[in-house]
Amino acid sequence: MKALVITRDNELAADIASQGAARVPPLEVMGTRVSLRDALDRLVPGAPHLVIIDASDGEAAEADLLERICKHYASATVMLLTRAAQESFLIRAMRAGVREVLPLPLAHRAFHEAMDRIATTAGVNTMRDGKVLAFISCKGGSGATFISTNFGYALASLAGRKVMLVDLHGQFGDAALYVSDQKPAMTLSDVCGQINRLDGAFLESSLVHVTDGYGVLAAADDPSHGVDMKPEHMETILRVARQHYDYIVLDVGRQIDALSLRALDNADAIYPVLQLSLPDIRDGRRLIDIFRSLGYPAEHTRLIVNRYEKGGRLRLTDLQTALGAEVMHTVPNDYVAVTDSVNQGVPVLQLSRASAVARSLAELVEMVTERRVTETKGRLFDRLFGRGDSET
Ligand SMILES: Nc1ncnc2c1ncn2[C@@H]1O[C@H](COP(=O)(O)OP(=O)(O)O)[C@@H](O)[C@H]1O
Ligand SMILES: [Mg+2]
Repeated sequence: MKALVITRDNELAADIASQGAARVPPLEVMGTRVSLRDALDRLVPGAPHLVIIDASDGEAAEADLLERICKHYASATVMLLTRAAQESFLIRAMRAGVREVLPLPLAHRAFHEAMDRIATTAGVNTMRDGKVLAFISCKGGSGATFISTNFGYALASLAGRKVMLVDLHGQFGDAALYVSDQKPAMTLSDVCGQINRLDGAFLESSLVHVTDGYGVLAAADDPSHGVDMKPEHMETILRVARQHYDYIVLDVGRQIDALSLRALDNADAIYPVLQLSLPDIRDGRRLIDIFRSLGYPAEHTRLIVNRYEKGGRLRLTDLQTALGAEVMHTVPNDYVAVTDSVNQGVPVLQLSRASAVARSLAELVEMVTERRVTETKGRLFDRLFGRGDSET
């Protein structure tokens, strides 16, 4: 969308430009004018979708100018920014067709919410409609953190999706460390503590960035002086995240608390991660029972079997029968590749592209996105993993 901004306040103009640039797709400022008079003298060519007018020094006299602007840019939505109640002016503005009025100083959240309304009316689909995928460890050490963090990286790098991972561990969350060596500047509890400021730009800035398209929201570090994290916070975070990311991957860990429960309630799919051992299967069974009692649809819960080795005592079919859930995918046991990756904090796909586990993660990406990870020259997948024959 294109906007014309009318204000004397350079800082405000810069703020609007930067907030607008952070939107998806970006709001592009096509011109700025210092006053209504200036805007009428120097009309912008083409038709802006939006005219943003700082009316903080707008006396009643200017209402005529405002009417002329509204008439000239008849197809645009007009947004007024006002500092104090200027009732008579506002009434005339409304009559002239002004649709949005926001108070100054500009609150970013209110600005984005207004932009969302405008975009919807204009039929511009600005919002992504992200999917929330929850990985949950059936037993400590099953591999949920390794798989979720590396799967997030694979989704972003192979399928070109915008991905965010949320580490929901109440304590000792380590997801960011599996794929990055940066120290998180912010954590989940910091975001909850400033929930009123939350918008796409704020969320993005709170992530540890692994790549441009992939960031991790680190776990709350110290629950003892943590902010009171509420299930409503989780709800808000996921709502905003869905608008700005294609996939929101959750590393749920083993503890189910009020916060992670609300996250699971909002998940589009839940992937319990387990290994083919009796203790894992027992805990997996308990987990599936909990999900069932919560009324989660059975087809939303699909198992991922980690460190899978063919020919073991326990078969996948036994597992499916025991748990009453479908096995979606298996990830092979790959001690060297995984240990190197985890120890260095570098995604396995980056460190050991040709490894069996990297290939398995790429397959999972294809399954979840329901499409081939293709590029113009044949399958990227084939190029990456050197599979000459296109058997699929
Ligand atoms: N497919 C695999 N092959 C070999 N080792 C693995 C595999 N997946 C995970 N591991 C190892 O298991 C350990 C525990 O995994 P992690 O993801 O932290 O488990 P969880 O989050 O479920 O507690 C990791 O440090 C990693 O070294
Ligand atoms: Mg973990």
